[in-house]
Amino acid sequence: MQAVSEMSLLGRDFLSVADLTADETLALFAAAQRFKRRTPNERERACLTGKAVALLFQKPSLRTRVTFELAVAQLGGYAVVLTQAEVGLGQREAVKDVARNLDRWVNAIVARVFAHATLEEMARWAQVPVINALSDREHPCQALADLFTLWQRWGGELKGHRLTFIGDGFNVAHSLMLLCALLGVHCTIATPKGYEPQPEIVRKAEELARTSGARIAVTNDPVAAVRDAEAIYTDVWTSMGQEDEAERRRRDFAAFQVNMNLLRHAPEGVAVMHCLPAHRGEEITDEVLDAPFCLAWEQAENRLHVQKALLAATVGGALP
Ligand code: CP
Repeated sequence: MQAVSEMSLLGRDFLSVADLTADETLALFAAAQRFKRRTPNERERACLTGKAVALLFQKPSLRTRVTFELAVAQLGGYAVVLTQAEVGLGQREAVKDVARNLDRWVNAIVARVFAHATLEEMARWAQVPVINALSDREHPCQALADLFTLWQRWGGELKGHRLTFIGDGFNVAHSLMLLCALLGVHCTIATPKGYEPQPEIVRKAEELARTSGARIAVTNDPVAAVRDAEAIYTDVWTSMGQEDEAERRRRDFAAFQVNMNLLRHAPEGVAVMHCLPAHRGEEITDEVLDAPFCLAWEQAENRLHVQKALLAATVGGALP
């Protein structure tokens, strides 16, 4: 096990991809690969012994909930899953009071929230690490699993490779763009007009890209965006909490479906990615999601391995 004090991740919050350095991210990928290749050994299984992690969900989840709960258990810790119906975060009890209570009992808080400001408030009031399990600004744990998936596919090399995101320039696109920028992956985001990523996230990505050499582009042309892509990523057009906009969004995003017609403009051998859940027939067709070149199921599996590495580093204090 590598002592995490060398990487200084122990005790740190993970609210944004930009909270990590490139070296720290690659160390997490190497650890995730070791977790993926074999059953944790005795030392790894004891990594979180005697430690508890609160998993707090204001919104529904399959992948994030299962993979975090399993990750904690496989490292010897104890996960307490809390839903919004039970906790009433910000309703039954003030966000800062929930954070101050959990801080007295658990060793980390993993939270899925509507507003990113809720996570920032929790992090201000809790001494233990707070991990972003999705907010309206970012989905950093998803992006870690996604780039880990590509790191494995591309033989442990990311710099200079090319990823295109097609869809809503929202939380998933934000974290992907930031992580690509950090790691030197050229990243193009193609959205309908009015759905571009937030300007401050683009500025942050451009700042990170100046060090890594990544090219960051935002366009409204999906066909041009896939012309040199090695991987094409998409996500739902209507996220949780935006259901009243679903009809307008279906119209606005109609030309942004990832289907075989769009893939004809991409290079041969292109991979398709999706964070799931998918709205089949909207942002992606059955034919593409079920194709052998679709990495969605690999990405879902990798959530477990990457989050084990993240918990081992931030809560356990050591990496395999
Ligand atoms: N990709 C993802 O975060 O899935 P869940 O919403 O099911 O957790």
